[in-house]
Amino acid sequence: MPIRTVIIPAAGRGTRLMPATKVTAKELLPVFDRVAIDFAVEEAIGAGAERVVVVISTSKTAIRSYLGHVALAVSGDGPRIGRQHEGVEIVYVYQDRMLGLGHAILCCRDTVLPGAIGVILPDDIIMGPNALAEMAARYRRGHMVAGMPVSAEDAAQYGIFRVSGLPVDNCIPVSGMVEKPAPGTAPSSIAAVGRYILDPMIFDVLAHTPPGKGGEVQLTDAISIAGLAVPLTAFRFSGSRYDCGNHDGLLAAAIARQAEVHRHRATQS
Ligand code: G1P
Repeated sequence: MPIRTVIIPAAGRGTRLMPATKVTAKELLPVFDRVAIDFAVEEAIGAGAERVVVVISTSKTAIRSYLGHVALAVSGDGPRIGRQHEGVEIVYVYQDRMLGLGHAILCCRDTVLPGAIGVILPDDIIMGPNALAEMAARYRRGHMVAGMPVSAEDAAQYGIFRVSGLPVDNCIPVSGMVEKPAPGTAPSSIAAVGRYILDPMIFDVLAHTPPGKGGEVQLTDAISIAGLAVPLTAFRFSGSRYDCGNHDGLLAAAIARQAEVHRHRATQS
């Protein structure tokens, strides 16, 4: 199923990466030879997006300047960002009120092309096979969310799936999700990772989703509500995921990226 539009929400404040994020968008922090948002843009393009909608705030316009430069400067010298963004439109949507991920997606309602919509959270860098492309290859209808197993202690940091059936080819049927469940209450050990393929009906659901965890409109809650009407699938992607919203994850991603670049250079020489 072609995914013509990919939304990259990048308006968040980056509180876990202070103090750098007082003046630099977390999406522009370096991951070895790239910056964090490169991975999301490249994955979107690799998954076939015609339009990439980047959600920023008026204090994060540096992202817009950066992506304008990179589109011109791409040289194809690395394993990722290997080609020009030719033919791909980058559109910016402003979210100046921090009302949550669900609200960020709702802000994009008028900018998406027809058909199912991809979402990539740029904090979640996935190295290895293109996760959104893997999902698109298996997506049929409803909403699909990337998933990975987590320990019981870590479950409270994620959206956790309510599993409702047995997996078939990396696709796990689910009946809903719980955003950051209290310790000991997680409905499964499968956590949501920041890749989504959404039926456009999600916009109507988001418009009526009340604020949830942290007083924010949660995409997790909207997907759960939508699960009453359309199928929900968790997809076990095959790459390695790094949480680049914190210092440990950012460093781990940089080290993995360094290894990827060195491997690539070795095959070139
Ligand atoms: C978001 C989602 C959460 C998901 C997580 C993955 O949370 O709300 O369901 O598990 O991304 O990284 P955040 O980390 O933005 O608080």
